Amino acid sequence: MYLIRSTFYWLSGLLILPSLGIAQTVSEIPIETARTAMVLRVDADRHVTTVHLGKRLTQAADYARLPGNPRLYEGYSDLYSSAYTPAGSRSLLEPAVQATHVDGNPSLDLVYVRHETKPVRDGVTLTDVYLKDPQYPFEVTLHYQAYRNEDVIEQWSTIRHTEKKAIRLAHFASANLYLTAKDYYLTHFHGTHASEVRPEETKLTAGMKVLDSKLGTRAQLFQAPMFMLSMNQPAQEETGDVLAGTLAWSGNFQFAFELDPQHNLRLLAGMNPFASDYSLEPGKAFDTPALIYTFSNQGTGLASRNLQRWARKHRIPQGEGNRLTLLNNWEATYFDFDEPKLVGLFKEAKTLGVDLFLLDDGWFGNNHPRNDDFAGLGDWQANKKKLPHGIGYLVKEAEAAGVKFGIWVEPEMVNPKSDLYQKHPDWVIKLPNRPDAVFRHQQVLDLSNPAVQNFVYGVVDGLLTENPTLGYIKWDCNAVIYNAYSSVNPADHLYVDYVRGLYSVLEKLRAKHPAVPMMLCSGGGARVDYGALNYFTEFWPSDNTSPTERIFIQHNYSYFFPAIATCNHITAWGDFPMKFRTDVAMAGKMGYDIVVSKLSPADLAFSQQALKTYDRLKPVIWQGDQYRLQSPQNNDVSAMLFVSEKGDRAVWFSYLVSTRYKAGTDQPPIRLKGLQADRQYKIREINLAAGQKSPINSSLTYSGDFLMTVGLDPAVSGQRTSVVLEVAEAGSAGW
Ligand code: GLA
Repeated sequence: MYLIRSTFYWLSGLLILPSLGIAQTVSEIPIETARTAMVLRVDADRHVTTVHLGKRLTQAADYARLPGNPRLYEGYSDLYSSAYTPAGSRSLLEPAVQATHVDGNPSLDLVYVRHETKPVRDGVTLTDVYLKDPQYPFEVTLHYQAYRNEDVIEQWSTIRHTEKKAIRLAHFASANLYLTAKDYYLTHFHGTHASEVRPEETKLTAGMKVLDSKLGTRAQLFQAPMFMLSMNQPAQEETGDVLAGTLAWSGNFQFAFELDPQHNLRLLAGMNPFASDYSLEPGKAFDTPALIYTFSNQGTGLASRNLQRWARKHRIPQGEGNRLTLLNNWEATYFDFDEPKLVGLFKEAKTLGVDLFLLDDGWFGNNHPRNDDFAGLGDWQANKKKLPHGIGYLVKEAEAAGVKFGIWVEPEMVNPKSDLYQKHPDWVIKLPNRPDAVFRHQQVLDLSNPAVQNFVYGVVDGLLTENPTLGYIKWDCNAVIYNAYSSVNPADHLYVDYVRGLYSVLEKLRAKHPAVPMMLCSGGGARVDYGALNYFTEFWPSDNTSPTERIFIQHNYSYFFPAIATCNHITAWGDFPMKFRTDVAMAGKMGYDIVVSKLSPADLAFSQQALKTYDRLKPVIWQGDQYRLQSPQNNDVSAMLFVSEKGDRAVWFSYLVSTRYKAGTDQPPIRLKGLQADRQYKIREINLAAGQKSPINSSLTYSGDFLMTVGLDPAVSGQRTSVVLEVAEAGSAGW
């Protein structure tokens, strides 16, 4: 192989193809960010292949010297590295695109037509590569949006044709990547309710490894649409080549990792083609969702920081803006509340010191009151018995108490026990000849139906329009799609059209209500992706709010998502000191879901102070660079550091995650990251419980070099199960 590859020579832009003995002009299409590059090549017969995905080369001219995949023995091996593999002709590997033409011909070939790179805005460029079938009026455009400073590429494709009638698309990948290494280690994230995003790493072997979802809604319950691929060695936090990717799609997805016969890795990522053959009308564009990826040559740590920065700057609404601290009533009251009780809770929210009170499930339904999860979904009128004066009254009362008011909705769903189900059974996803199947006693509305889209839009828009000062929406989604069938859209692509319907509702809502904070929730974290996070300011990672579990869950989400978007609530789960619960929740977007009146005076005072501390620290936690210093996966003590962009401030969280004898006490010092080596820093312990003395000497000064080379022991132990340290450049104000 090496010999064959090395017999390719470049002579001033000409490729000498030894097997053919002729010279052909070919050209590279580099898609570059500050440190990385994806390089495509148009080969001699106009097929587009991938020749590089990795570190950017300093000399652009060197791209022409990158080895490509030669054609071996009259075979199709030159197509292994296809930038978008068509099915049915010469390539026999997993396809990116498969279509059956109007004349019944099931094959595609795609050749280069042209490409262009345009600036989108400062630091962002879009490269479009146009491909077409030489025999049919069938085109694919590959889009690569490159975010220069964040080293992130967003890639998607558009499929179009002008044949006489609709054609059938059976595969429609967003991206078809190609990597060359000796070995590939894949980390993926799976779980279920209350145990979301558990990482597992596996070495890829010959054949195909598929990660996918077929759940429709709540699609990521078992498998999250994200992966880390480490080249040549298992993933390391600070070293090694890593590709981190995630699909911006809230429905069924598929990642297929296929080792080609030459041991290169092909990755096909996109919507899951399962039960989704798409009938594409002539002249209509079929846009796939984007695969968002970053390449890091400094391990998973840099990959995460790239994605987190990208998300804050370019994706999540108000990603560089403010967030509201809140008190939620779900775990405090469940369905058991009424007006006087809520008004009492507003006052408690104010006493605690949060910005907003969030009313959860249970406020609606009259003929079918929502007093448990068997009834009421779909009937979005305030329950007259519990809330005789309606939502407007609650908004006013909350504001009178000095906090904003937010509300929970689950507008995509319906309980069979509801007026909505009785009035519009055809709006419900179900099969005509099978018994209804429920998940959490509820079914999913058919969002491929424009009438349902209007209804769902109307539920949320109605609340926001009638209550212009409503401060927050928590949007839940608690059921998967069973019996997938739409009475208005009997074609096979309900799974695709459902998510598109959802996005069109969210698009319209955001156009009218751009500023309202919205939490993305799905019975915990079964819908956390950058498709939905186009519209939501934050997400609910898990219904599991036990702090020991949350340490792991938050750590694992941090591979892809920034702390500002990760809602961490302090609750009564488990028997943990308030300090421990608070220290865990503070490493993200902190909130509460507790009965404030039941807090001891010491816990209340601690929490009030913690909220003030959080106010001071949140710019660093939300906008700083995140360093996973020690993983909870394989250490007694896990540690996370947030460092301000200027490197002058940092917040360092350490937690004991083992209950073994003396766990945490025989640790070497923890080395910090991301500080400025030549600057001097001071360190002080914060969030101390009443009467607690810190062993950390805050009068000492350390160089950044010392802290990053030698480190410091935060002195975590069975008596100090969590430690929060504030780091600031010596001489900073307030120190
Ligand atoms: C889901 C959410 C919870 C809560 C309940 C209400 O489980 O994840 O936070 O809102 O629904 O029914």
